[in-house]
Amino acid sequence: MQHADPAHTRPVSVWPPVPPGAESPVIPDAAPPVRVTLSDGSMHWLVSRYADVRTVLSDSRFSADDQHPGFPRLIPLPPLPGGLSFLRMDPPRHDVLRRVLTPRFTVRRIEALRPAVERTAEELLDGMERGGPPADLVQAFALPLASRTLCELLGVPYRDHAMFQEHSTNVVATDTDPDTATASFTVLEEYLAELVEEKRARPTDDLIGAALAQQESAALTDEDVVALARLMLIAGHETTANMISMSVLTLVRHPERAAALRGAPELLRPAVEELLRYLAVVRDGIARVATERVRLGGQVIEAGEGVVVSLQSANHDAAAFPDAAELDLGRDARGHVAFGYGVHQCIGQALARVQLQIALTALLRRFPRLRGTVAPEDLAFREFSVVVGPRSLPVAW
Ligand code: HEM
Repeated sequence: MQHADPAHTRPVSVWPPVPPGAESPVIPDAAPPVRVTLSDGSMHWLVSRYADVRTVLSDSRFSADDQHPGFPRLIPLPPLPGGLSFLRMDPPRHDVLRRVLTPRFTVRRIEALRPAVERTAEELLDGMERGGPPADLVQAFALPLASRTLCELLGVPYRDHAMFQEHSTNVVATDTDPDTATASFTVLEEYLAELVEEKRARPTDDLIGAALAQQESAALTDEDVVALARLMLIAGHETTANMISMSVLTLVRHPERAAALRGAPELLRPAVEELLRYLAVVRDGIARVATERVRLGGQVIEAGEGVVVSLQSANHDAAAFPDAAELDLGRDARGHVAFGYGVHQCIGQALARVQLQIALTALLRRFPRLRGTVAPEDLAFREFSVVVGPRSLPVAW
C-alpha cells in the first residue's frame, strides 16, 4: 500500500519495524483520513485514528460487502458469490448467519475448552522438549496449538492440517497471484463440501454439525454451510498462530517483562490484552466501502469510495492510549480494536484469548530461560499478508 500524501505518514515506533530487505508498507501514524493507492492501482481512503476507525466499523453507511465495485481488494482473490461468508455481508443477512455460530462462542462455552487447550499446549511442549533445543516455535507450538484447537471446535480432521494451512495462508496473503488464491479457495471449498456431506450422513456435535442442524430454521443453503466452515478455518488459523508467535517474540526480546509475568500470573490477562493492542496482527487488513456520502475526520468520503482501516494505527493512537508506542503489560488495554469493532467484531475472540493465555503461561512455566536463537533483524516475516507474523521463530531454553 502506498500513500498518496506522504505528508500525512510517519512511521510509529512499533516493533518489529520494516524487515530488512523487504519492501513494506509504511505504518501510518494515527492521522485524518488520507488517500492511498493499492498495488492494483485503485485509490481508497486510509482511516487510522482510533475514533475514526470505530466510526467506520460501526456506522451502517460503510458496507463490508465486497461485491461492491468500490470495495478495496486487499487480497488478490476475486469477489466470489457467497465469498468469505458473513465477513463480507451486511445486516440483516450477516446477523442471521453469524447467529448460527454465536451460541458456540459464548465465554462460558469457550472457558469449558480450557482443559483441552491446556492438554494440547503441554503435549506440544513435551514434543519440543523431547526434540531438544533449538526448536521452531511457529511449527512446533504456535501453529499446531491454534490449528488443533480450531479443528476440534469445527470438526475438521487435524490430519489434513498441512493441506488447509497451506491454502488458508495463500488466501490471506496479499502477494499471492489471483490464480493461486482462487485455486486455494476452491481446494478448501471442495474439501469442506465433502466433509459437510459426511457430517450430514453422520451428525456430529461440532460447529459444522451445529450449522447443519440449523439449516432449515436459518434457511441456510448447502453453500452457506460450506462458506461458514471455510470462513472459520481461514479466520481462526493464521490470526491466533501469528499472535502467539508475535507475543513470544516480544517477550523473548523483553526478558524482564517475561520474568515479571512468570512471577505474577494474575498479570497475564491484562498482558494478553496489551499484546493484542500493541501487536495488532491484523494490521491494515480491514476494508469497507461507503454506501452514502460521509463526513469523517474533516474529509468527505463519497458514496462508492473504498476505505482501508488500520487497526494497528488505531491501537497506537495516543488519543486513546497514553504512551501508545510503549508496550506496558500492566496497562488497561481493553478497548483496543485488534479484534475489530461493530457488527463484524471477531466472533472467535474469547477463544483466541484463552489460547493466548494458555500458550504464554505454559511456555513461561516450562521454559523459564526461553530465548530466540536468531537476531530479530534476521527473522523472515510473513509480511505480505492480511495477518503478520514470523515465518519461523527459532528458540532455545
Ligand atoms: C488473535 C487472534 C485473532 C485476531 C487478532 C482476530 C481478528 C479479527 C478481526 C480484526 C476481525 C474483524 C474483521 C472485519 O471487521 O472485517 C475478525 C473477525 C472474525 N474472526 Fe477473528 N481474530 C482472531 C481469532 C479468531 C478465531 C480463533 C476465530 C474462530 C474460531 C475467528 C473468527 C472470526 C470470524 C468468523 C470473523 C468474522 C466476524 C463477522 O464478520 O461477523 N477469529 N477477527
